Amino acid sequence: MTRSAPAPAELLTIAIDVARQAAATAHRMRAEGVSVAATKSTVTDVVTAADRAVERQVLDALHRVRPDDAVLGEEYGAGAGGTANGVRWIVDPIDGTVNYLYGLPYCAVSLAAEVDGEVVAGVVRNVFTGEEWTATAGGGAWRDGRRLNCSTEVELGQALIATGFGYDPARRSHQARVVAELIPHVRDIRRLGAAALDLCLAAEGRVDAYYEKGLAAWDLAAGGLVAAEAGLRVSGLRGLPPGPDLVIAAPPALYAPLHDRLADLDASGGP
Ligand code: IPD
Ligand code: CA
Repeated sequence: MTRSAPAPAELLTIAIDVARQAAATAHRMRAEGVSVAATKSTVTDVVTAADRAVERQVLDALHRVRPDDAVLGEEYGAGAGGTANGVRWIVDPIDGTVNYLYGLPYCAVSLAAEVDGEVVAGVVRNVFTGEEWTATAGGGAWRDGRRLNCSTEVELGQALIATGFGYDPARRSHQARVVAELIPHVRDIRRLGAAALDLCLAAEGRVDAYYEKGLAAWDLAAGGLVAAEAGLRVSGLRGLPPGPDLVIAAPPALYAPLHDRLADLDASGGP
């Protein structure tokens, strides 16, 4: 770890403070009304004024307290921040933007801090419910004061599996084919609409496991740490780290059967 880098707990304190203010802004802006400001990768990949305003607020707040840190955000990219001290923040101002647009109470601010490329602190806060998940590397995963443990389910056939779909139609078709082949072998599938929250639900056994192709760093950073600190194994396929090709988050007993089935189904393949 970079010598000048602050402790994970210190970064988490900052992250929580910034995420709470950001979630309050997102909540207020939703109450005032919401509309699509632009589209990104496809016509269904939308960005609202709130996505931009919330990320701007996070960037400004981080800059005030940690002016030398780098920041990567979904809406404004890497910005002009520094990297010399090894600290980089990763923010998704609103994960679950489509839910936000429709007023479905399953979207979150996700904010993580990396030191030397390793995520060491993260917070995910549900904009509508105020539920808040936190984790530090080696310090466990927590929700609202309670330490979290993942599911103890051992049978894939009894497992409730969360997943998601990208915005590109060709990718979605491939993902749907994978789900069609997986669903006969599990309890059921959930597509709730916010990857960071899916990972947090897995951290407390409200779903048993999660997988998805196509996640960006801001979808994964904070929720991935929460999941890992709750005991889930978080990886890609065949020993790869989790990343855009695939993220699997599964309790130890479910990991191999889910991984192997996803590998057989070429879950990381397609466009
Ligand atoms: C999306 C959500 C969704 C997942 C997509 C993500 P966004 O993020 O997390 O659940 O399936 O892969 O892109 O666009 O709402 O920030
Ligand atoms: Ca987003």
